[in-house]
Amino acid sequence: MQLHPGMLWGAPTIRCGFSGKRKAVRSCRDFIADALAANAYGYPDELRDNAVLCASELATNAIRHTRSGDFDGVFTALLYLRPTWIGLEVHDLGPRGERPSAPHAVPDSLGDPFATRGRGLAMIGRFSRGRYGYASPPECPFHTTWCELAA
Ligand SMILES: Nc1ncnc2c1ncn2[C@@H]1O[C@H](COP(=O)(O)OP(=O)(O)O)[C@@H](O)[C@H]1O
Ligand SMILES: [Mg+2]
Repeated sequence: MQLHPGMLWGAPTIRCGFSGKRKAVRSCRDFIADALAANAYGYPDELRDNAVLCASELATNAIRHTRSGDFDGVFTALLYLRPTWIGLEVHDLGPRGERPSAPHAVPDSLGDPFATRGRGLAMIGRFSRGRYGYASPPECPFHTTWCELAA
């Protein structure tokens, strides 16, 4: 996982807040797909599909692994559209429990046909060629999982 790009990314093109309910994953996916549909930068279809998949995994993780999935939880998705790359961020409410864990890719999960968990970040790592990561306060104002996909 890499350092958060911070101010280097500039302002997001678009952002949206969601409830922490499971159905919000679909809403988030649709939000990203709709935002990519105009395609002013002429991104290839595969890149846009990958961005939607990554957003779906980040949103799922926010709900499954953080307080965003608790009653009244929320998360925010941010999309950065740039001529040569797409950036995605999800801000969540932070890990649950007394011994909080941070996002971590599960090694070899993509090569294991029986793995039912641990594929999300590994897949994001592959699509982003390693340009993904996690940051938390005080380094970053929000618990943030991000990835950058090259055009
Ligand atoms: N936003 C997050 N906050 C805290 N922990 C996370 C977050 N996202 C992922 N994780 C941790 O990283 C692990 C790997 O995530 P992932 O590859 O998506 O697999 P899965 O969601 O199937 O467990 C999760 O099991 C969880 O422990
Ligand atoms: Mg996951």
